[in-house]
Amino acid sequence: MAERLLTFSVFRYNPLTPEIPPRLQEYQLEETMGMSLFIALNRLREEQDPSLMFDFVCRAAICGSCAMLINGRPGLACKTLTQDLPEKITLMPLPVFKLVGDLSVDTGVWFRHLNVRTEAWIHTGKVFNPQIEERMDNPTAQDIYDAERCIECGCCIAGCATANMRADFMGAAFLNRIARFMIDPRDERPRARYFEVVGTDAGVFGCIGLMACDDLCPMEIPLQGQLAFVRRKMAQMALCCKCK
Ligand code: FES
Repeated sequence: MAERLLTFSVFRYNPLTPEIPPRLQEYQLEETMGMSLFIALNRLREEQDPSLMFDFVCRAAICGSCAMLINGRPGLACKTLTQDLPEKITLMPLPVFKLVGDLSVDTGVWFRHLNVRTEAWIHTGKVFNPQIEERMDNPTAQDIYDAERCIECGCCIAGCATANMRADFMGAAFLNRIARFMIDPRDERPRARYFEVVGTDAGVFGCIGLMACDDLCPMEIPLQGQLAFVRRKMAQMALCCKCK
């Protein structure tokens, strides 16, 4: 691989020092074999600018904390290799979420709100017995697992046109979470309870179908399929109510 000199334009702004306006700061770095953006950013911080703010925990596409706009596209820095990018790389923080500083955003508040609003736990009257395994068929377990693969990175929200336009839009991660509990046979919530939460313009009817969530999910969760599942179940319930 021919060695390249990479130029990084990195968004810089610290809300704690508002007197210094937002700007793009340029850094240069020689590319090395197998370099990820995680490695590049750490080298920039260690060798050139210790004040650079960005988030990482797992370095393995598990924690979701390193999501940022990479040349305008939401993605995980630890999963993105510089060899797949041009020599000039622009890094910006994810939109929609609260900016902590530079490339660091607070997705935690947003997702905590999601968990509270969807009541993201199994609602059951049964007393939990750790000695007895609650059995379910394999396809159902697989469907739940698919929805559970969400790492809450926020890429689907940052890339969503509706979420960028209206603050109350639940977004694909939210609707995926609802689908996860609707699939789960252990959850005894009446269907109507789900639809009270998602059956609005801020929920399933707010999506304008641009499919960015599907394209951008680093875990390749079929998010539009999950949205369609929730819409279908809602339509079925409405039809059943009409028949009565
Ligand atoms: S550091 Fe955890 S997903 Fe990138």
